[in-house]
Amino acid sequence: MTAEYKVHGDVAVVTMNNPPVNGLGYATRTAITDGLNKANADPAVKAIVITGAGKAFSGGADIKEFGSPKATAEPNLLSVILACENSAKPIVAAIHSVAMGGGLELSLGCHYRIAAPGANIALPEVKLGLIPGAGGTMRLPRVLGVEPALNMIVSGEPVKSEMLAQLPGQKLFDKMASSPEALLEEAIAFARSVADTRPLPLVRNLPSKHPMGDAYFQFARNMVKGMAKNFPAPAKCVDAVEASTKKKFDEGMAYEREIFTALMFTPESRALRHLFMAERAASKIADVPDDTKQREIKKVAVIGAGTMGGGISMNFLNAGIPVTILEMKQEAIDRGLATIRKNYEGQVKKGKLKQDKYEQRMALLKPTLSYEEIGDADLVIEAVFEEMGVKETVFKKLDEVMKKGAILASNTSTLDLDKIASFTKRPEDVVGLHFFSPANVMKLLEVVRGKKTGKDVLATVMALAKKIKKTAVVSGVTDGFIGNRMIEQYSRQAGFLLDEGATPQQVDRAIERFGFAMGPFRMGDLAGNDIGWAIRKRRAAERPDMKYSRTADKLCELGRFGQKTGAGWYDYQAGKRDAIPSKLVEDMVAEHRKSLGIEPRRISDEEIVQRLVFALVNEGARILEEGIAARASDIDMVYITGYGFPIHRGGPMLYADQVGLFNVVQAMKRFQANPRDDAKFWEPAPLLMKLASEGKTFS
Ligand code: NAI
Repeated sequence: MTAEYKVHGDVAVVTMNNPPVNGLGYATRTAITDGLNKANADPAVKAIVITGAGKAFSGGADIKEFGSPKATAEPNLLSVILACENSAKPIVAAIHSVAMGGGLELSLGCHYRIAAPGANIALPEVKLGLIPGAGGTMRLPRVLGVEPALNMIVSGEPVKSEMLAQLPGQKLFDKMASSPEALLEEAIAFARSVADTRPLPLVRNLPSKHPMGDAYFQFARNMVKGMAKNFPAPAKCVDAVEASTKKKFDEGMAYEREIFTALMFTPESRALRHLFMAERAASKIADVPDDTKQREIKKVAVIGAGTMGGGISMNFLNAGIPVTILEMKQEAIDRGLATIRKNYEGQVKKGKLKQDKYEQRMALLKPTLSYEEIGDADLVIEAVFEEMGVKETVFKKLDEVMKKGAILASNTSTLDLDKIASFTKRPEDVVGLHFFSPANVMKLLEVVRGKKTGKDVLATVMALAKKIKKTAVVSGVTDGFIGNRMIEQYSRQAGFLLDEGATPQQVDRAIERFGFAMGPFRMGDLAGNDIGWAIRKRRAAERPDMKYSRTADKLCELGRFGQKTGAGWYDYQAGKRDAIPSKLVEDMVAEHRKSLGIEPRRISDEEIVQRLVFALVNEGARILEEGIAARASDIDMVYITGYGFPIHRGGPMLYADQVGLFNVVQAMKRFQANPRDDAKFWEPAPLLMKLASEGKTFS
């Protein structure tokens, strides 16, 4: 049963019951129409109420059925809405908590609507690269007016029921209930009061118009163009709402459907729907069931108040969790605290944070120089220098002082977590929490699962990640984890491109046009080119067979570490971040090419993009094959939330799927044949070869 049927005197109540949000899956849709048929056939019933059990009226389409034939099987949502409109007896939608997407569209097919205060009302389809597909663009303008309706449809953002009820002339709600608790009773009474009203009012019969007509829609189009560069859906929302003012209702409905169907097949919508599912999938760990008992995290300690330690602490302060931050010297503590304060003060100045909230947060932060003061923390996160020796000292000390059951986490970005865990007598309590810089801003958190990390520890940190508003993705132990291991291949390829004839600005421009927030060279200048230099030095000892372009080392030998030294791949004016192409770098690269005997060639932007992105894809395939990432979509989440990969492409793995894995392998073979490139680099990963030859995809 996904909807219950109950008769209260002369009013039948159909209650959708498909937790968690009464998604309108096949079974729910069938149960609603069964209920309507029953009510219409029962002479004792005079009116009908539709409502939702639990936490929602209805959240819309059932995500469990996304992409399956059940999603559109009859009765599909349009048919259910039609059944509502055609009911001989009045139907009242009793809305509370959440009415979104198809849920709101269903209510718009009912004759009357009564809403509880505090309900979130939205048509969020645009966030999946779509427009509402069951009459939302035709009916919402008729009840709210064109402008408020279009705002809701283009933004996809929820608006509170009581706000909508205040719009002049609105016909969305016939009545507001006095409270969520009183909703059902008041809806039944309202249904009784309209039981004999005929003809029954239908939203489709209301007019949709804007006093400024075409001029308004032109204005709306211009606004939307600036907002959504890479996405077609917002402009299509304008088209559909405009059609509500120009076409007959049923023609408008057909037009909406046409747009909806076309958008379903766009790569942009596919990318957004993929990421929507990917985010949910990433929070699941196959062998860690949802009901795994979690540890309680009431107090956090952070070791190291440097770049990362400060930002990491802020995440917990923002969530109201007290933090004790430990350093070796008073000066370091003072510096760390000053940075945190400056950061919050900046937010206060911009009006993003209230002064009292800032003070509350700072009051939760306690600095210390003594390990004795952190022993009772439930979670300690180490963010000290990236040297195994330092990590060893710290973890041995933590093993001594931390209470039993505390989680010991490391923010290491390259070191072996299993080795770090082995410094303690409780490796089951050790986990990697790899935050990204700036740690208080970046969404991504790689949760590094060591060989012995406890399942309850994983369950706890995954839940905690949600609490501090991070997107957590689990990675196995490997050098660089998911993100940095892949980016290393991308950077190597960027170097080879320079050797062959490209300039840093050409490479950056090509990949930025593809949609990356920043190209590899601008990124290097921002993060500090010395970081990669240190890694390459280590690599030279560990893997002397790994080929690199020497240009990046030469750059560092010139002291050009990036923005922090005022010069890197680009020149920078004092106090400014604008990247100015550098003659000196151009000459250095040309000199290097000459020493290799390379005659530069013009490389197309398309080749640049393919070489950079497929470098990510190939390493991603290896990571997947080794089980370092559980799913291809986890890799996409890492790249979207941590590395500025363009959202409308859905992540490197989905992008490869959309290009077609066969074509990806073909391109790699072409690159392999290029004597200037590294043939070994382009050896397709076995998993990629296998999927390509079977005509399959990563997802
Ligand atoms: P940092 O050099 O800015 O800060 C390290 C802090 O640790 C310094 O303030 C230092 O005084 C303190 N420290 C060193 N040894 C200590 C000890 N034994 N006890 C207490 N405090 C000690 O370094 P950063 O950038 O914050 O990096 C910290 C960790 O985070 C490293 O493992 C790094 O690999 C990792 N990481 C860094 C990222 C970045 O973008 N900077 C990104 C992700 C991870």
